[in-house]
Amino acid sequence: MSLPCRVQLTALVITIAVPFSFRILSGAAAQTAELSSPVSIPDDPTADRFVEGLMSRMTLSEKLGQMTQIAVNGPSDGVSFEDHIRKGEVGSFQSTTDPERISHLQHIAVEQSRLHIPLSFAFDVIHGLRTVYPIPLALAASWDPALVEHTQEMAAREASAVGINWTFAPMLDIARDPRWGRIMEGAGEDPYLGSRMAEAQVRGFQGDHIGAPHHLLACLKHFAGYGAAAGGRDYEESNISDEQLENVYLPPFHAGVKAGAGSLMSGYMDLNGVPGTGNHWLLHDVLRERWHFAGFVVSDWESVENLTTHGFASDPEEAAVRAVNAGLDMEMVSHLYRDQLPAALKDGKIKQSTIDQAVRNILLIKYRLGLFEHPYVDLAEIPRQLVTPEQRETARTVATRTAVLLRNQDSLLPLNKQIHSIAVIGPLADSKPDTMGSWSLAGHYDDTVTVLEGLRRRFPTGVTINFSKGVEISRDLPLSIFDDQFQSPKPTLTTDAARQAEFRHAISLVEQSEVAVLVLGERQDMSGERASRSSLTLPGQQQELLEAAIATGKPVVLVLLNGRPLDITWASEHVPAILEVWYPGTEGGNAVADLLFGDAVPGGHLPLAWPRTVGQIPINYARNVTQIPEDPDHRYWDSSSLPLYPFGYGLSYTSFTISKLKLNTTSARAGSSFAISVDVTNTGKLAGDEVVQLYTHQRAGSASRPIRELKGFQRVRLGPGETRTVTLTLDTNELSFWSPQTHQRSIEPGTFDLWVGADANAAMHSSFTITD
Ligand code: NOJ
Repeated sequence: MSLPCRVQLTALVITIAVPFSFRILSGAAAQTAELSSPVSIPDDPTADRFVEGLMSRMTLSEKLGQMTQIAVNGPSDGVSFEDHIRKGEVGSFQSTTDPERISHLQHIAVEQSRLHIPLSFAFDVIHGLRTVYPIPLALAASWDPALVEHTQEMAAREASAVGINWTFAPMLDIARDPRWGRIMEGAGEDPYLGSRMAEAQVRGFQGDHIGAPHHLLACLKHFAGYGAAAGGRDYEESNISDEQLENVYLPPFHAGVKAGAGSLMSGYMDLNGVPGTGNHWLLHDVLRERWHFAGFVVSDWESVENLTTHGFASDPEEAAVRAVNAGLDMEMVSHLYRDQLPAALKDGKIKQSTIDQAVRNILLIKYRLGLFEHPYVDLAEIPRQLVTPEQRETARTVATRTAVLLRNQDSLLPLNKQIHSIAVIGPLADSKPDTMGSWSLAGHYDDTVTVLEGLRRRFPTGVTINFSKGVEISRDLPLSIFDDQFQSPKPTLTTDAARQAEFRHAISLVEQSEVAVLVLGERQDMSGERASRSSLTLPGQQQELLEAAIATGKPVVLVLLNGRPLDITWASEHVPAILEVWYPGTEGGNAVADLLFGDAVPGGHLPLAWPRTVGQIPINYARNVTQIPEDPDHRYWDSSSLPLYPFGYGLSYTSFTISKLKLNTTSARAGSSFAISVDVTNTGKLAGDEVVQLYTHQRAGSASRPIRELKGFQRVRLGPGETRTVTLTLDTNELSFWSPQTHQRSIEPGTFDLWVGADANAAMHSSFTITD
């Protein structure tokens, strides 16, 4: 039986010991890297000549080998990896972070195979390797592409040091259904924000060109529409209208291609009835013909073999034929290309030129990665590259800049540093895996600072820190293969009496302390691949714990660790302070301590609209309204149809006003750009960040137009009392859309509304026209 990769990877760790090193920094003082300019894959005649020369000497078996990726811990056919490599039957490995193993396999490929073609080594470096950074959804909440670029560059530095040269990231799936666990891995609901995050991550991973030292090949995934899984159930089919596909789901991929990504992964799922892995329209018409993508396409884990499961291919041979003819260059884990394509070629079901093109795509990227020149890494150098002070500093800064302050009644936060006692309560308060988050497969618990530890380090003496987990989170359903793989702590309170005693203990600690910090949310294994939920409530008895803590009358801060928005409607009315820190990573606990005591000021904003309840899904802000347009917010009989917090929302410990909206023209030609400026004033007493957001609405078009769409943003830092003029440039090409009437993308002339503000409810309004 084939297992999903998440399950198989959980045991992987890097085995190199690195001394614990750590440096305090103030989040407020942190600077982020400058954005570098977009790159694209250049034409390179030398590379072409080299690859053509090599291909002229390759046998069919060697060519199919280059089109095959196997997992070091995945299914095997009984032949040793070493033998496969010697015979040139494999071109790429995934799922190992062990530098000795990588080096061993690479030496065999380069020294013992007939044509000495180096292997590529891939890994899911999604939010860090050994140093774990906040999850991608959190990165999007920073609204800071330069920070995101820098983060992925740091991740690439560690991964490339151990011999990995290819990451299966960034994940660019727009997700509007938080039941889908993989919402944590993307940038949220919006194609504009998602596109900026796509570009930043590609630049961060790859540097200014494919093969830049200390960088990785990026892989845009999962092409396309995986985020629309029916019912939020992972791996289910996606049914997306052409209009939504073109205007919402594809743009981040196009942005990633334009930023120069060298590889792309097909999605597992059916898109409108055709599997992503066998989808000629996606992989050829859109990707190659329309976008001129010059890299290669890899399948997802066994997704070529799965074409039979879809009912799309009648047998393994047909699966391989349909995938390769669709434009799928490399097969991940299953090996139908290797086993089935020779006969299919003989029978005329595929053309030699199709195989050659796939091999060419793959080898050109290997060449550009510099693998033929520098196939090995310096093993002696590795310990100096992992969990360095710079990586820790970045992790801490990023965790502070991705946090979103959702509520802060009567300015409870930041807490007074003269405090004497704190109750730190909750099942996630001292859980290493749940601080790191899903897709932290190579992170080490020893490196990770939990919220409890962060607070203890912040106050080594003088403050009494009382800890109780209060409740535990266990899985309600007895579920098969996952249970042994769970990284989150297994429940230890096995009797009702033990559970009740721990609950009472927690509440008594709240009663004895000046303030309570409740660290609640979801275990990390409730988010990510194969981690869908049918409800958004706080799992287990966390809600009861929260209510009991509030009933003590003590001030309570709710710190949320999670990979999706949760149902916190009760908390939003009763808990004075709510700080969303997502899964904050290796330095999470230190970052939370910085935030709670004002050494860092929260400035993140939501990359999605936050629903009140699961029944509101989807609740994305950019939508079309029809009948009774003046009252679109009361569509339910039993609830508001507004989200609890709008897209783009986030508070600070200081306050801001945005005023003096100016457009440098109110009539622009299609294709031109124009400037929009506002004055932003920090009206409070602390330095802090505001995210200025620009939304537009086209009053009429050949198809209905969404009520608002994000078209620009900028995160700015202002000192107390400071006013700054912030200028956003509106490139009118961003106003283009694919019309289901014309079947074309174009900028349609007309009148547009425009709003600038600090979330999707921005009220400051103007308008402009676009002319031909
Ligand atoms: C399956 C996941 O869908 C994909 O995102 C991941 O990159 C591969 N497995 C490899 O681990």
